[in-house]
Amino acid sequence: MNHSVLSKRDLHTTASSTNAQIEARRIAATPRGIGIGFPIYAQRAENAQLWDVEGRRYIDFGSGIAVLNVGHRHPRVLQAVQEQLQSFTHTAYQVVPYESSVALAERLNRLSPGPFVKKTAFFTTGAEAVENAIKIARCATGRPGVIALGGGFHGRTFMGMALTGKVAPYKTGFGPFPGSVFHVPAPVPLHGVTVADSLRAIEQRFKADIDASQVAAIILEPVQGEGGFHPAPSEFMRALRDVCDKHGILLIADEIQTGFARTGKLFAMEHYDVLADLMTIAKSLGGGLPLSGVIGRAEIMDAPAPGGLGGTYAGNPLAVAAAHAVLDVIEEEQLCARAEQLGQRLKAHLEHLRAQVPQIAEVRGPGSMVAVEFLQPDGQPDPAFAKQVQQRAEAAGLLLLTCGTYGNVVRFLFPLTIEEAVFEEGLAILSQALRG
Ligand SMILES: Cc1ncc(COP(=O)(O)O)c(C=O)c1O
Repeated sequence: MNHSVLSKRDLHTTASSTNAQIEARRIAATPRGIGIGFPIYAQRAENAQLWDVEGRRYIDFGSGIAVLNVGHRHPRVLQAVQEQLQSFTHTAYQVVPYESSVALAERLNRLSPGPFVKKTAFFTTGAEAVENAIKIARCATGRPGVIALGGGFHGRTFMGMALTGKVAPYKTGFGPFPGSVFHVPAPVPLHGVTVADSLRAIEQRFKADIDASQVAAIILEPVQGEGGFHPAPSEFMRALRDVCDKHGILLIADEIQTGFARTGKLFAMEHYDVLADLMTIAKSLGGGLPLSGVIGRAEIMDAPAPGGLGGTYAGNPLAVAAAHAVLDVIEEEQLCARAEQLGQRLKAHLEHLRAQVPQIAEVRGPGSMVAVEFLQPDGQPDPAFAKQVQQRAEAAGLLLLTCGTYGNVVRFLFPLTIEEAVFEEGLAILSQALRG
């Protein structure tokens, strides 16, 4: 086919469509299981702003669910991808590898916490990274069991669902799930669960469900993402490390949402004085292109035999090029420090609004992984208020994401490169949306 004679129709462009027209087509053409956040259709985006097909502008405080820590279309990312486009777009790394992927692995091995020798394997989606982390952990230990936390989210594949600690909507109707996965409650003081409660639950699992000697891994997010932006307390992480060391269990940090400067450090595990054996990464690593990975101790990573890991698109060269640019930008624009500054300002802003918005029960989160949780006067979760805030913000041109086991949390994931004026404008809309 002659590529230069593609017609407008071949490209499926429907420039004159309105949001409502496309929404009607979406409902007819795609299954409802793929829920959408906002019935607006993207036309173009730039750093922290997005325009829909009707030309309406939005400030994007969601970053495509934590993917755009360096913003939409960062010039460095665009340039890196364009340069890669000129050479090749796909070879299948496991058929004909490329140096850029090896260099990215070297870079991540160096940048990730832990003085030990590390190796990194690349995949495509977050769920795939989680699947592979569990495969590697089982293969390295020869054990089946995995312990995960209530409220945790690890993806929509079968092991991802099995590990996820929230039934609706992620697990409803999809079972049975892979076996030997056990949940313990996450320590969330606001919801009455202490660190001691969570640790006791692990000991109970070892008595009631699986002997500790049969557990391959404990997996957790250093800050729960979908679960409500609950940071794991330091003493909890330390105690988990002790449990793992005592029983020969591997500690897996799922850094898919927390990674790449979001929490004020390149990786959230840098906030702790203990180390994970394996880390899953995705989302902001690729700056908008699909890329994920598992970083871990070399001897553990080398457990699976050649051919046991991989995937046709694993470590796509365009995404690898983008990831190099993302790491450059994080360093050159000092995005860890900026995450800290912006997060402090947002938290101060929200704390200031507390007097006028009695639903605000807690403002929390490290760096710019900030959330505000809403409760009713009787202490029950208030998901209706979270929804209302989200809708009012959208009407005023600000995209916000909700989260939390009860859906009563608004989380903030703006690009860390956001312009000052756009950030201030977003905060002003947020105030209005909270006050009503
Ligand atoms: C902590 C965590 N793990 C895993 C995943 C799954 O990633 P993906 O949607 O790319 O499969 C997510 C996605 O939100 C996540 O936040």
